[in-house]
Amino acid sequence: MMIEIAEVMSRDEARLCRERLAGAGWRDGRLSAGEVAARVKSNDQLPDVDPVAADLTALVLERVGASPHFIAAALPLRIVPPRFNRYRGGGAYGPHIDNAVFAIPGQTEVVRSDLSATLFLSEPDEYDGGELVLGGERVKLPAGHLILYPSGAVHNVEPVTRGERLAAFFWVQSMVRDAQQRAMLFELDETIQTLRAAGSDDAPVTRLIGLYHNLLRAWADV
Ligand code: NI
Repeated sequence: MMIEIAEVMSRDEARLCRERLAGAGWRDGRLSAGEVAARVKSNDQLPDVDPVAADLTALVLERVGASPHFIAAALPLRIVPPRFNRYRGGGAYGPHIDNAVFAIPGQTEVVRSDLSATLFLSEPDEYDGGELVLGGERVKLPAGHLILYPSGAVHNVEPVTRGERLAAFFWVQSMVRDAQQRAMLFELDETIQTLRAAGSDDAPVTRLIGLYHNLLRAWADV
């Protein structure tokens, strides 16, 4: 299941990111792929040590952390610092499954990838192709919107045949490893938010919130 998180970043902010990324020190993305993935990967990636990457990584982490929908959907425990990629000139990423475990530079802790995230930085009309494809769904979002999807599902990025597609991407280890449990918590959370917005009676809503937290307590692996 893919979950769209709208407006993690404003369109203006995404444009500023594109402007900064235009002058960054891009490298062949195959250098950072595993042996098998490298055979199907054809894009550019920004090295973690690039000063532009460091700035924008901090910005993306801040915006993602401030998004209630992202937090509710992902229930993040650990996040691999966001990286940046660029597809153009027919660049694509063929069908693959993401690595299971990622190291965080400078830290001993590792991150199990339960969820993959792509934050679109280019506007959809700036390029042709470049859809993220997973389980028959094809995703191409406005700049500043994010898609969350299971890291263990086969996915690909279609060739970009015009313009360029810039994006930030990262992996999340969720407090709730089981995707079905996580999905039920998300649905319960959204239902509670809807009831609160509709001004529903406080006492039943408070009981539902209690139920949410007790389920999270039972299922969270922290
Ligand atoms: Ni992938």
